[in-house]
Amino acid sequence: MSLPPKTTTPNGHTSHRLFANYYERTSRNGGEERFMKLLRQEVVGQAHGHVLEIGAGNGLNFAFYQSTTVEHVEAIEPDSVMLSYARTRAQAAPVQVNLIQAPVEKLPFADESFESVVATLVFCSVGDPQRGLSEVRRVLKPGGTLLMIEHVRAHGTIASTMQTIITPLTRLMAGNCHWNRDTEKTVLETGFKIEQKRNLTWSMLPFVVLRAIK
Ligand SMILES: C[S@@+](CC[C@H](N)C(=O)[O-])C[C@H]1O[C@@H](n2cnc3c(N)ncnc32)[C@H](O)[C@@H]1O
Repeated sequence: MSLPPKTTTPNGHTSHRLFANYYERTSRNGGEERFMKLLRQEVVGQAHGHVLEIGAGNGLNFAFYQSTTVEHVEAIEPDSVMLSYARTRAQAAPVQVNLIQAPVEKLPFADESFESVVATLVFCSVGDPQRGLSEVRRVLKPGGTLLMIEHVRAHGTIASTMQTIITPLTRLMAGNCHWNRDTEKTVLETGFKIEQKRNLTWSMLPFVVLRAIK
């Protein structure tokens, strides 16, 4: 089996080119429309003030920022191919979106810069989620809000074991995506207080929608 290409760009960022192109293609099909669109609307619509979006991917959240409550958005994304798609969506966004190539583990922002941080389907893929969430906490203002949609580790033993078995494959094929991450636990361990949470359970791939406060 030939492995999907993972390249390192001259500035040290990793690019999962095949996955990024596949993600863009599937973004245009019915699954995104039927399922993710409403969740994005709900979660991204809560962002306000100076907003940081983590791992913006191809920019699917940009359309849902509210120009009445959001001053501007800084969006970070390490993958060059994802960034090229995100640039197009940033131009069509209802608010100003500034794109920066950077990983969440090393955010190029001063302490306490943002009122809201948005992360959707990101922390499954981040190399060091604990460090990334500590960085998110550092750049949030006191009382600032972390808004997340993530797919997470299943509660049942059978489902979570299956996830762990599948994870080497999803990491390889889907841009380092881990199906077995307990992201909610990492959010709590980083010192956030979870203010609102909703579990969406689909056996092997449960989702959590949460709002956490610094
Ligand atoms: C499944 S995509 C989700 C993209 C987008 N957030 C969305 O909701 O459609 C996961 C994204 O996380 C990004 N990512 C992976 N590691 C990251 C890191 N260390 N810091 C920030 N983003 C990262 C990937 O490049 C990819 O764009």
